[in-house]
Amino acid sequence: MSMRTLFLKADEPGVRRGAEVIRAGGLVAFPTETVYGLGADALSAPAVARIFEAKERPQGNPLIVHLGDAAALESVAARVPPRARDAAARFWPGPLTLVLPRAGAVPLITTGGLETVAARVPSHPVALALIEASGRPIAAPSANRSGRPSPTRAEHVWEDLDGRIELILDGGPTPVGIESTVLDMTTEPPMLLRPGGVTLEQLRDCLGEVAVLKGDDLEAAGRSPGLRYRHYAPRAQVIIVERGAGEVAVAPWLEAGRPVALMAQRRVSLDGPGFRVRTMPGDLEAYARDLFAVLRELDSTGVEGIFVEAVPPEGLGLTIMDRLRRAAS
Ligand code: TXA
Ligand code: MG
Repeated sequence: MSMRTLFLKADEPGVRRGAEVIRAGGLVAFPTETVYGLGADALSAPAVARIFEAKERPQGNPLIVHLGDAAALESVAARVPPRARDAAARFWPGPLTLVLPRAGAVPLITTGGLETVAARVPSHPVALALIEASGRPIAAPSANRSGRPSPTRAEHVWEDLDGRIELILDGGPTPVGIESTVLDMTTEPPMLLRPGGVTLEQLRDCLGEVAVLKGDDLEAAGRSPGLRYRHYAPRAQVIIVERGAGEVAVAPWLEAGRPVALMAQRRVSLDGPGFRVRTMPGDLEAYARDLFAVLRELDSTGVEGIFVEAVPPEGLGLTIMDRLRRAAS
C-alpha cells in the first residue's frame, strides 16, 4: 500500500489533525519521551492491523497501549494489583510499561494474542495531547520499520515509513532516546522483561524484589515475545568490544581496506582512510539519547562494521548494553 504521508509540526493544529486520523482508524507517528511511536486506536482491530502492516511487524509481537493517566488503566486491564498502582504512582507519566491482565475491550491483535496487556502513561506533552484529543487509548510500537534502530527523530520515521502511514508529527528529538522498561506485574515477584528508561535499581527501590528475565532463556521468548525478533540492527555489522580495545579490534578491518566506525566513550587517536570515530558521552543519559541516532548516522555512511566499546552494565548502562547486544546479534 502506498499513500501520501503528511509531515506536520507537533503544534496544536498538528495534534488536532492527528486525533482526527486516529479516530478515523489511521496511523500517526508521534514523539514520546523515549522514542517516536506509531499510533493507532488500541481498541480497533482493523486500525491496529495496519500498524503491523506498515512496520512489517510479526503478528505475535504485542504492542504497548498508551494512556492519558493511571485512571484509564481500568479500561484496558482486568485487574490492577496494588503493587502495579505503586509503580504507576511513582513512575508515571514516564518510561515504564506495566504488563497486566487484559480487559475484554482490548482486541487480541493489540496484545499479540496474549491474555495480558502492556500499558504506560508517557510524559511527552505531544503524546499526552494526542491521547487526550483523540479520546482513545493509543497502541504504539516504536515507529521504525521492523528490525531497524528505533526512531528518536521525526526524520528517522520518515526514512522508514514514508508512504505507509497518514501522518508524522515532528516534535524534535526525543529526550530519553531508548524505549520504556517493560515490567510484568502478573508474576510474584514482578519480572523485568525489557530494561529501559527506568532502571532496575529504581524499580527495586520502589517495589522490593524484582526478577530479571534472561534474554537467552527459551521460555523468555514466550513471556516477552519481542525478544524473539531481530532488533535495532543497522545494515552494517555491529561488534561489541571491551572498553579500551577499539583500536586493536578495528586494525585488521582497516588493513583489509574495509570502512569501519568506532563508538567509544573516550578520545581515540587512531586515524585513517575509511575510519570514522564517534566519541560517545560519558554520561549515560546523554549516551542513551544519542545511541540510535548515531547507529543510523554511521550506517548511512556505508561503513561495513560498527565497533562499539562496552559500557558498565549498571543503571542505564544495562539498557544500553541490552540494545547493543541485540543490534549485534
Ligand atoms: O518506549 C516505548 O516503549 C516505545 C514508545 C513508543 O512507547 N514503544 C515501544 O514499543 O518500544 P515496541 O513495540 O517497540 O516494544 C514493545 C515491547 C516488546 O518487547 C513487546 O514484546 C513488549 O513490549 N510487550 C508488549 N505487550 C506485552 C505483553 N502483553 N506481555 C509481554 N511483553 C509485552
Ligand atoms: Mg520496537
